[in-house]
Amino acid sequence: MSGLSRLEKTLHRLQAQQACLAFAFDEIAGRPGPVVELGLGLGRTFDHLRRHLPDREIHVFDRVNGAYVDCQPDPSLLHLGEIEQTLPPLASRLAGTVVLANSDLGSHDRELNRVVAAMSARLLPPLMAPRGIIMSDLPLELDGFETVPLPPGAREGRYYLYRRGG
Ligand SMILES: C[S@@+](CC[C@H](N)C(=O)[O-])C[C@H]1O[C@@H](n2cnc3c(N)ncnc32)[C@H](O)[C@@H]1O
Repeated sequence: MSGLSRLEKTLHRLQAQQACLAFAFDEIAGRPGPVVELGLGLGRTFDHLRRHLPDREIHVFDRVNGAYVDCQPDPSLLHLGEIEQTLPPLASRLAGTVVLANSDLGSHDRELNRVVAAMSARLLPPLMAPRGIIMSDLPLELDGFETVPLPPGAREGRYYLYRRGG
């Protein structure tokens, strides 16, 4: 058995996610541009994004809509299906404009995690604005991005932050 219980791991992941989101909100303040959420899930992070960024266009991606009824994205900005299929048609419209992307696609399947991390690392960079922030629940290999130290409240390895070069 490893040192941490599942409960503690989940708690640390959510704390890191919240701290990284708070950091990202400050980073992008005053800079126009849309936001991308990969992984609607139950809609928890989407709900947080829309409350803190009420004037932003938030594009949300998932294969299905399993979000709480009170966490539903604008249908015109909800892209349902495999991200490999649904994101590329938007790529030219969003190219170089996205100020914040949250890739929250991980599961308990290590092989699938490797696949989705590679997908995010391939599809997100062309969308990002200069100094745009990518947050991820999985480590990403991103050319042209610096790794940003995690903010206070986020434990190493529980979430990942990257900033595109200016
Ligand atoms: C960890 S959950 C997201 C949690 C969510 N951000 C929240 O706060 O409630 C991961 C989601 O990613 C979606 N997902 C994973 N791989 C995907 C893919 N290749 N295409 C579309 N959706 C994917 C799953 O359907 C799942 O809903």
